[in-house]
Amino acid sequence: MTTGSTDRAVVELSQVAASVGGRTVWSHVDIIVRAGEFVAVLGPNGVGKSTLLKVVLGLVPATAGTVRVLGAPAGRANRRVGYLPQRRAFDPSTRIRGVDVVRLGLDGDRWGVPLPRWVPGSGARDAMRRVDEVVELVGAGSYAHRPIGQCSGGEQQRLLIAQALIRNPDLLILDEPLDSLDVTNQASVSALIRDVCETRHVAVLLVAHDVNPILSYLDRVIYLAHGGAVMGTPDEVIDADTLTRLYGTPIDVLTDRAGRLVVVGQPDAHSHHAHGPDR
Ligand SMILES: Nc1ncnc2c1ncn2[C@@H]1O[C@H](COP(=O)(O)OP(=O)(O)O)[C@@H](O)[C@H]1O
Ligand SMILES: [Mg+2]
Repeated sequence: MTTGSTDRAVVELSQVAASVGGRTVWSHVDIIVRAGEFVAVLGPNGVGKSTLLKVVLGLVPATAGTVRVLGAPAGRANRRVGYLPQRRAFDPSTRIRGVDVVRLGLDGDRWGVPLPRWVPGSGARDAMRRVDEVVELVGAGSYAHRPIGQCSGGEQQRLLIAQALIRNPDLLILDEPLDSLDVTNQASVSALIRDVCETRHVAVLLVAHDVNPILSYLDRVIYLAHGGAVMGTPDEVIDADTLTRLYGTPIDVLTDRAGRLVVVGQPDAHSHHAHGPDR
């Protein structure tokens, strides 16, 4: 399941810092994600996980260090990146059909960065064929023609993952895609993402607030805390000594009978800031 270190780097951050509203949220962050790797971004609320994804997308500028994505500065290669922002469920009255939501992934400008038009074939028929392919890939065929507001949370999430995959990206960036799902759907969506990683050699960067549903699928994790980050295998990172060093305060990692990890003692994300104005 681990990828060879010879695979090309898809995301490279070197000594990177980012700030939001004039406040540095993290700094001195070093990250390498390689082709075909499934990497989770973990850490307490407000620590800057979504900000990290936005730095990789070039939506938030790094205030220090260098960011390379698919061999180019952040933002430059975004047409090869699929992105699912953090979100809530669609309102039940949303009438747009699943297939139309998926198709939106072909058009530019979905997330604030203009994308070139989809090129291959360029015709409506090619677009429809590609929508069908990717709907099949995520197993959404039976409900993709229903209004998306009428689909369950798990169904909506599969359709949105299909939208993020429609351009055949080399990097898939998912912000808390498991958040609104029940345990069964968390497992099946995780397995789907793992499958996409392996069969298409896509690098996946996924934010999660609970590592347990994805633990068995992951290659590596990035743990953000206390204004910094550590990256490694889940065993290396979700470890009492590592997290104690990262947080600068005693942390315990417990394992329950089902093998689930519980991190105990993590302070609030802002506790290290002299002036945390937000929330
Ligand atoms: N639009 C914004 N304006 C000001 N502060 C923000 C904004 N968005 C996020 N923040 C703050 O930036 C920090 C990092 O946020 P975020 O990256 O969303 O954290 P996470 O995804 O880990 O919960 C938090 O302290 C948050 O309160
Ligand atoms: Mg977030």
